[in-house]
Amino acid sequence: PLRRRVPKGLKPPPGPRGLPVVGNALELRKDPHLALTRLSQKYGDVMEVAIGTQPVLVLSGLDTLRQALVRQGEDFMGRPDLPSFRHITDGQSLTFSPDSGDVWKARRKLAQNALKTFSITASPTSSSSCLLEEHVSKEAAYLVTKFLQLMEEEQSFDPYRYLVVSVANVICAMCFGKRYGHDDQELLSLVNVSEQFGDVAAAGNPSDFIPLLRYLPSRAMDLFKDFNKRFIRFLQAIVKEHYETYDKNNIRDITDSLIEQSLEKKEASTAARIPNKKIVNLVNDLFGAGFDTVTTALSWCLMYLVTYPDIQKRIQAELDQTIGRERRPRLSDQGTLPYTEAFILEMFRHSSFLPFTIPHSTTRDTVLNGYYIPKGRCVFINQWQVNHDEKLWKNPHVFNPERFLNAKGTEVNKEDGEKVLVFGLGKRRCIGEFIARRQVFLFLTTLLQQLEFSVRDGRKVDMTPRYGLAIKHKRCEHFQVKQRFPMASLS
Ligand code: HEM
Repeated sequence: PLRRRVPKGLKPPPGPRGLPVVGNALELRKDPHLALTRLSQKYGDVMEVAIGTQPVLVLSGLDTLRQALVRQGEDFMGRPDLPSFRHITDGQSLTFSPDSGDVWKARRKLAQNALKTFSITASPTSSSSCLLEEHVSKEAAYLVTKFLQLMEEEQSFDPYRYLVVSVANVICAMCFGKRYGHDDQELLSLVNVSEQFGDVAAAGNPSDFIPLLRYLPSRAMDLFKDFNKRFIRFLQAIVKEHYETYDKNNIRDITDSLIEQSLEKKEASTAARIPNKKIVNLVNDLFGAGFDTVTTALSWCLMYLVTYPDIQKRIQAELDQTIGRERRPRLSDQGTLPYTEAFILEMFRHSSFLPFTIPHSTTRDTVLNGYYIPKGRCVFINQWQVNHDEKLWKNPHVFNPERFLNAKGTEVNKEDGEKVLVFGLGKRRCIGEFIARRQVFLFLTTLLQQLEFSVRDGRKVDMTPRYGLAIKHKRCEHFQVKQRFPMASLS
């Protein structure tokens, strides 16, 4: 019914015929990334499905995605106005709100600059190369101690529960200059239940497309609304503290630097055109995007490591050989550990734990691969499909880090690395990619230099993916660690 007239000489994208009222919603109910990958094999890279009565454009195939998101980036950089997104940061989120105009652009630039200043800019006060290295190194070292302590006290443990606090502490340090204890209930009650967010914010949530469903009681929706309220309240309290102790001569963290931008708007600056509230609340986007993604990445790393102990041993051999046991890993070691880096790439590819980007929408009428697409069309980007495309990968379902290495195993093939799609592409590409990749690298190498991970005898981890904004695995409380060598010698 919402189909508009297609201009002469152009055709609408093909797609499966849907049922009345629900469209294709039933086929997408479970694991939509797999269902849409199967459908794309039949209908192609540019395909249209219906969720309820609403048409949704589904894009697959690396070349098609590069065409849409990079070469025709302006056409595809919008965000749809989805009902569930209105609950996120009061509908003012940089990431989820429908704005994709000048205000969004200026906010994105501010967020990028603030992030850079408090992560990779050289640190004047510490022995580390930058603040990011200092924070990650400290949190990772603490995790090693914590895991060993848990082994003594409990003989096994669920690493996720501790990883999430350590990762959250890194982004907290940059955003708020604050660190939380591993038993802080207020922080845990947010970061430990991120699926309350990801279950509803995931691409293809039926109630975003079928109005009738919004009138039915939904536990997932109640939890989502409550999560967002608690999240805003948590951050508002911290921001308030910052205003009260703000000193323009001592900008302590990202929140201070955003306050500074909002107070001292220079006429010609990017901040000049943005309402104050929309500057300071950028910290919500940074904190929200910053903890769950990186935690999920590291948690999948640990799952693969205990599933493939030989791979774990090979990473440790590489660490012993290249870094040794006298000093801790540093960010500058990135680029010298090809097998470790191939493992991280393969974790991103194989898990594809962000199966879709956040939904996009078209900003104007456009044409892609000869198909006509009207303005305002909701667009799903299927990253999972690219990462498992038989045209790009040999045996895509097999976990094999070596696929990224040259024959001698001495170098990562850069081009293959760039085929792995997890951070999106083009105008909406993740702004945290540079810190996310560094964090995963430094946490992982610091943990593996000192610890060997396994699961309790007779137990196995359950790798079954559970769909959401981020794909999670079942928690496993049977993890164990062994210390690889006495720690006293490490500097
Ligand atoms: C957006 C992936 C970590 C900040 C995104 C998107 C993806 C993504 C797929 C959506 C792209 C699109 O809609 O086309 C990841 C992954 C991460 C990660 C896999 C970790 C492994 C981070 C971190 C931060 C961050 C650490 C910040 C501290 C953002 C922001 C956006 C975004 C602000 C919204 C950009 C916009 O809408 O203009 N990320 N991300 N991300 N990410 Fe990340």
